[in-house]
Amino acid sequence: MILLTGGTGYIGSHTAVELLQSGEEIVIADDFSNSNEEVLKRMETLTGKKIPFYQIDVKDKKALKKVFEDQAEPIRCVIHFAGFKAVGESVKEPVKYYRNNLDTTLSLLEVMQEKQVKQFIFSSSATLYGKSKGKAPFTEDEPDTGCTNPYGWTKWMIEQILQDVCVADPEFSAVMLRYFNPIGAHESGLLGERPNGIPNNLMPYITQVAIGKLDHLRVFGDDYDTPDGTGVRDYIHVVDLAKGHVAACDYIKEHKGAEVINLGTGVGYSVLDIVHAFEEANGIRIPYEIVERRAGDVATMYADASKARRLLDWKAEKDLTQMCRDSWRFEQML
Ligand code: UFG
Repeated sequence: MILLTGGTGYIGSHTAVELLQSGEEIVIADDFSNSNEEVLKRMETLTGKKIPFYQIDVKDKKALKKVFEDQAEPIRCVIHFAGFKAVGESVKEPVKYYRNNLDTTLSLLEVMQEKQVKQFIFSSSATLYGKSKGKAPFTEDEPDTGCTNPYGWTKWMIEQILQDVCVADPEFSAVMLRYFNPIGAHESGLLGERPNGIPNNLMPYITQVAIGKLDHLRVFGDDYDTPDGTGVRDYIHVVDLAKGHVAACDYIKEHKGAEVINLGTGVGYSVLDIVHAFEEANGIRIPYEIVERRAGDVATMYADASKARRLLDWKAEKDLTQMCRDSWRFEQML
């Protein structure tokens, strides 16, 4: 049995479905702070399974203990998705971010210690390479240069905590998955990303322009040192990312200690590449204007994805056209 905190969120919900379809038993703990009951229902429709679910705050140790105690089959592994993730908001409200992201992790680790559960998979981020002086593709052993915002620092701190836990307990295993830029949606159109308010991220912004909720895309800068001057990122289909977690759940059974692993495709696309791929895949024009650079953005960020291939026997399979089609299908079905 695998516990997913934040298992009804964008990445959590896709991972839950892939785990169930691969034959794993799961239980979800989520407070619905960035999702809702409808997502859970859709996950059940898709898999034809009733999913054990606890609407709790993961900071609440008492409630969390009950999740571990209630299960007939013991929980062997936890995938910790729950956390706040908006970069801009974290700059404005750092205390809220540190309190939430660190407290949920510490509560979880304390309860796991008490219940003798020793497998931990963590949603980390390529944001840890954001200040790097090196050049893409980034490997996991890129020198640590810290982060550019409180959200990133929470990921950095939690990685450090997990490294320390692995030193203290040689039986403990922690896999820290550094995600690049997940986009796309489940091909059924039932699951996808539902940002609150005006989206910060590129693909949800584009789909909202396509459907007419937003007027046009603002491209943040065209004077970067990249082939067309716009920012380059490693966009990965969310279902591929979910499958990376399934592979990590297998890997962690046999390996102890701490391991950091990039989940990306290893390929970079620019903002305008994405706009044009979306237009081509879906036959819709996306009007855009070039505006100032966005503070904190880097020119180019993509993964060296070879470690995931080596350790997890996993690689991303879906191409940009599928990412664009699936994102658009989900937006239309919302
Ligand atoms: N962009 C625009 N216009 C928009 C939104 C984005 O031009 O309206 C551009 C950005 O400048 C950037 C690219 O599109 O060049 C991607 O931007 P996103 O906001 O979609 O993604 P980021 O790469 O900035 O950040 C994402 C996640 C972070 C994570 C990071 C890791 O949002 O949580 O990837 O690399 F930390």
